[in-house]
Amino acid sequence: MGENWQQGNLIEIEITDLSSNGDGVGRFNNRVVFVPDTVTGDRAIVRLTRVKSKYARGKVQRLLKPSTYRIRPRCIVADKCGGCQWQHIDYEYQREVKRQQVIQALQRIGGFTDIEVKPILYNDDALNYRNKSNYPLARSTTGQVQAGYYRQGSHQLVNLNQCPVQDARLHPLLAEIKQDIQQRGWSIYTEKRHQGKLRHLSLRIGRRTGEILLTLVTTNWQLEGIEEQAKTWLQNYPQLVGVCLNQNQAKTNVIFGQETRTIAGKGYVREIFAGIELHILAETFFQVNTEAAELLLTKIEDILDLQGGELIVDAYCGVGTFTLPLARKVKQVIGIELQPSSIEQAQCNADINHINNVTFIAGAVEKSLQKLEVKPDVILLDPPRKGCDRAVIDTLLNLKPSRIVYVSCKPATLARDLRLLCQSASYQVSLVQPVDFFPQTTHVECLVLLQQ
Ligand SMILES: C[S@@+](CC[C@H](N)C(=O)[O-])C[C@H]1O[C@@H](n2cnc3c(N)ncnc32)[C@H](O)[C@@H]1O
Repeated sequence: MGENWQQGNLIEIEITDLSSNGDGVGRFNNRVVFVPDTVTGDRAIVRLTRVKSKYARGKVQRLLKPSTYRIRPRCIVADKCGGCQWQHIDYEYQREVKRQQVIQALQRIGGFTDIEVKPILYNDDALNYRNKSNYPLARSTTGQVQAGYYRQGSHQLVNLNQCPVQDARLHPLLAEIKQDIQQRGWSIYTEKRHQGKLRHLSLRIGRRTGEILLTLVTTNWQLEGIEEQAKTWLQNYPQLVGVCLNQNQAKTNVIFGQETRTIAGKGYVREIFAGIELHILAETFFQVNTEAAELLLTKIEDILDLQGGELIVDAYCGVGTFTLPLARKVKQVIGIELQPSSIEQAQCNADINHINNVTFIAGAVEKSLQKLEVKPDVILLDPPRKGCDRAVIDTLLNLKPSRIVYVSCKPATLARDLRLLCQSASYQVSLVQPVDFFPQTTHVECLVLLQQ
């Protein structure tokens, strides 16, 4: 098979690496080929599907020699569904690759050449871990209501009746609720025409309480018979504690709109996190892997070796997931969060647990941190994937807390921010601890301790 660098052609390659978005990487005459659904050590005939001068994307035509890291996926639609990328890869190897991804980001983007990255922390159950699923809804060509995840890089739905990474207690609901929606004749939203009502079916479970919350995201509150149906669902599923509607009329990929109404039962689930009772609403951010988030929190507490007199700022605090357990160990915690509903919920969670040494500030960290009138001993950062705004980094360098704990869900932005924080020797990285929050996917969470 000579070189023929053109779309549609077949080439034979060995996969030698995995890219940060999870594709296998091989080389063909000094050019790079990205091949989804492969793993290091696979040898395959690959059809080139998109060709550029230096690199191409391909699709496995025939697997000649499977890698020793290859396993049989637990999910029957693993090769179609874009929810997980690595169901076909042995879990131990997934963890090692994630650790390497952190190392590479720190080296290439952060410029940290000799930094130790600890082995990744993980839970034993690499399946059945998700406490939340937001399924887009669609109709099949034969008119059947479908719910599932999109194929990778598309908006083509892969219909699911269960998903092995989701808490198995949610499985009985999915197929039956789809059927009920079908029988009610409620219209399903279509993105292309921006028409129809139901957009998403959202299920959330408190891992420790077993409480389930069902939310339908709709463009229109008027769903004939919704009250009656909601009551029937509550009767049919004893663990279901509430049925909500959320209205989203926008042309957007964002799942939830601004307003949620509780139709039957209550509008939240209770979760027990690190001994704290949290109430979590349909649309508020909460870590999807309760147990792994607890591992992370325990690690934070260990490395900080808290003495009881500290003042901690929990920037990007969400519903108080870390704020409240930490408050039990220190003098005071100040939580900062942009989402008004999350901050309201964080305060409510503090009240439920009779925790009084917390203050919650509703607002952007970039503004609120500047206005702080106290000097914190520790600042905990847990920003979204885009990392911290430059203004946050500048304020941190002015405030100079003796320790910063940075929790990140994206190694590239973590490395960028660490570089800025460590410039001119302001801070030094003293621990890098990845944690696997998202087994079977390429995502990796990482905890970093910075000290002056
Ligand atoms: C990765 S989550 C972490 C939440 C929390 N630490 C937890 O573990 O549940 C990031 C949070 O930051 C919030 N957020 C995003 N941008 C923000 C900003 N500029 N200022 C304050 N909070 C922000 C989001 O609403 C979200 O709750």
